[in-house]
Amino acid sequence: SARRREAQSRHTQVLEAADVKYRRDLRTARGAIDYLKGRGLSGQIAARYGLGWAGSDRHGLASIFPDYDKPDFAALLVESGLVIQSEDGRRYDRFRERVMFPIRNARGHLVGFGGRVLGKGEPKYLNSPETPVFSKGSELYGLWEARQAIRNAGQVVVVEGYMDVVALAQMGVENAVATLGTATTTQHVQKLLRAADQIVFSFDGDAAGRRAAWRALQSCLPLLRDDIAIHFLFLPAEHDPDSYVREHGADAFREAMREAPSLSRFMLDEWARQHDLAQPEGRARCVHDAQPLMQAMPKIALRLQVQRELAGMVRLTPEELDTLLALEDEPSG
Ligand code: CTP
Ligand code: MN
Ligand code: MN
Ligand code: MN
Ligand code: MN
Repeated sequence: SARRREAQSRHTQVLEAADVKYRRDLRTARGAIDYLKGRGLSGQIAARYGLGWAGSDRHGLASIFPDYDKPDFAALLVESGLVIQSEDGRRYDRFRERVMFPIRNARGHLVGFGGRVLGKGEPKYLNSPETPVFSKGSELYGLWEARQAIRNAGQVVVVEGYMDVVALAQMGVENAVATLGTATTTQHVQKLLRAADQIVFSFDGDAAGRRAAWRALQSCLPLLRDDIAIHFLFLPAEHDPDSYVREHGADAFREAMREAPSLSRFMLDEWARQHDLAQPEGRARCVHDAQPLMQAMPKIALRLQVQRELAGMVRLTPEELDTLLALEDEPSG
């Protein structure tokens, strides 16, 4: 509605104004510049991603908003997530002493920020809260900045972190985006498939990364088509894409992408890994666990292909497996 668009544009305006300040303040923030350089980033990449710096002043934003103390405007700043109001009514900047990563939506509108501490502080990243213009479950960091590279490659690389996106771009892999510290949702996958018909998920090489990949796979299932390609790249356990590409280079990363297992391969391997297929009970349990995932897939050719391989794994004929998997489709009672 017009009212909603009006509210969104007021939010966008305050975020843009804060962004201008954060970017300007980075130019003279020696510690932040050294930190970014230490992580291998050039000024050019920092500028392309609009990186900024939120200084230590608790009321830094008051210096750019003349209406900072007017009740309506103060409420807008709080609602935008830039300012926090404590229970006693005092207000202060949410982001302080953090490197700022502006987050744009698919249309290029600024919708929020992520902020990283220099060094060891907690929390490592602070993000904008959910606001009328920002929802973590559907936005992807870097999608706007990477849009041309994604289009050129016909492929989008999905990583976990802000720094992964920026480090990959620094090394020449410019088509990466990140989920914002949340599980990959079906809304994310919808956005990704609007941008490219090939997706490579690259999660951190630890157990948490594997769990995140499995959840991402589940978010993909309802959207699968036979004309798209989804792969899962698992890096060595000690690496995330940022550390990997900096240690081994962009060519090694691209090579790893080419060798990444497909969605169906990952799914079948994971089923095999999770069950004792040498035992009848293990094979039965495998069918049981596979059923909801198979049912989440549209009836495409890939589903039949997976079903055929699964049948072999659990030592059933495709017909027997079909009967078992179809059971839940029948109206109960
Ligand atoms: N994240 C977050 N809040 C935290 C930690 C993480 O929102 N306290 C999100 C951020 O989007 C972060 C992503 O989860 O980029 C991945 O987290 P992690 O792997 O821990 O961080 P890195 O991106 O690897 O951070 P860095 O390399 O800067 O240490
Ligand atoms: Mn991690
Ligand atoms: Mn990481
Ligand atoms: Mn990292
Ligand atoms: Mn290594």
